[in-house]
Amino acid sequence: MSQNDTTTRIAHVFSGTFVHSTPSAAVEILKDSVLGVDDEGKIAFIEKDPDVVSLSKIWGFETAEIKVLEQHEFLMPGMVDTHIHASQYSYSGTALDLPLLEWLSTYTFPVEAKYKDLDFANNVYTKVVRRTLKNGTTTACYFATIHTDASLLLGELADKFGQRALVGKVCMDCNSAVPQYKESSNECKEETDRFIIELLKKEYPNVKPVVTPRFAPSCSASLLSELGAIASNNKLHIQSHISENKKEVELVKTLFPDCKSYTDVYLKHNLLTDKTVMAHGCHLTDEELKIFHERGSSISHCPNSNISICSGLLNVRNVLNHKVKLGLGTDIAGGYSPSILDAMRRTLDTSKALTIQDPQHQTLTFEEVFRLATLGGSEALSLDDQIGNFVVGKDFDALRVNVCVPDGPIDLFPGDGPKVILEKFLNLGDDRNITEVYVAGRQVVPFSDT
Ligand code: GUN
Ligand code: ZN
Repeated sequence: MSQNDTTTRIAHVFSGTFVHSTPSAAVEILKDSVLGVDDEGKIAFIEKDPDVVSLSKIWGFETAEIKVLEQHEFLMPGMVDTHIHASQYSYSGTALDLPLLEWLSTYTFPVEAKYKDLDFANNVYTKVVRRTLKNGTTTACYFATIHTDASLLLGELADKFGQRALVGKVCMDCNSAVPQYKESSNECKEETDRFIIELLKKEYPNVKPVVTPRFAPSCSASLLSELGAIASNNKLHIQSHISENKKEVELVKTLFPDCKSYTDVYLKHNLLTDKTVMAHGCHLTDEELKIFHERGSSISHCPNSNISICSGLLNVRNVLNHKVKLGLGTDIAGGYSPSILDAMRRTLDTSKALTIQDPQHQTLTFEEVFRLATLGGSEALSLDDQIGNFVVGKDFDALRVNVCVPDGPIDLFPGDGPKVILEKFLNLGDDRNITEVYVAGRQVVPFSDT
């Protein structure tokens, strides 16, 4: 038991069951445990079967302040959405009848062009931040649009509602089917610089910029190089898309004939770093996965989108065997659900479909998928020194889950223990079961205005 120093003040104490992942255990269930959060939002202690009275004296809290979880409740780490287009939330749940390139020209670019209007942006961005928080997304890696001011507004709203976020102003300077929805290469560079400077100037504790070339077909080689340099000079995260759909992979071959592969396009332009997250990767070769491993770059697996717009089935087992970091993404609006619980289910479905095709394929387990949604996501965003599981010194990003809420979606039966309760929540639960959400120790759900 560690000793308190005089400066640490305890802001929350919970007792009961805690469920999280560690590098060695996909699911670790800590029963009869007590967790304390300090006033900077960090986990101060987590003890199994402690003597609560002596713990309270050491850390200077009152035992009456302890939030006691019931038998059918547990605390888990907040979920990480490693890839979501905030700007596409207005049409999520619709427009899933075209493959990627046609889908972008027909639905996506015309909608994204509307974010010139800050009132429009404010309405959609407020809704997407609230909806994802309510569904347990404590960290989101967002694509906004090409508009700097609207992208800054997304950062402001994530900060206001208390979501941890990486926010990307989208860069694209070619091949847009909507002529007004692109910038010149120079505008992209200048506006990205302005976006980064202005967002960093706000000093939001948990909202940071991410350099965001849309994908290789939307960017000239010179723009890709500029963005690689901006990320490197400012030590920033990078996000984009890769090998989502076969026609897209063919298009990249014709646009970048000097590059060996789609991965080589990003590699050559200094866009594959240990802070890079690339969405999809359904059609990456083993050679390309080796490059991801060497560079420490990661993949955001977006199974709802991969199926909804018929892009492909990512073999997550193969990615993990290559020791490439991987997290889950909703990819709103290519994916129709804003929930990472849905991403976990679609990840399992995809893995089972691969097993149907090839019985030798080693199907993912629900425990592994739980890890991908939490610790895996934090690793994919290179935030695992701060978040992802319940380790002393990390920020307290957590969900209070109650599987027995009135009129809820889950029934329990005698003998259902903590592991079954977790599995039922992952397969059957929804936002009604997520009764409280914390980010960096701040309770952000229920919302303070409702
Ligand atoms: N590739 C380039 N842009 C996009 C996008 O907005 N959504 C998806 N799913 N793929 C993309
Ligand atoms: Zn995407």
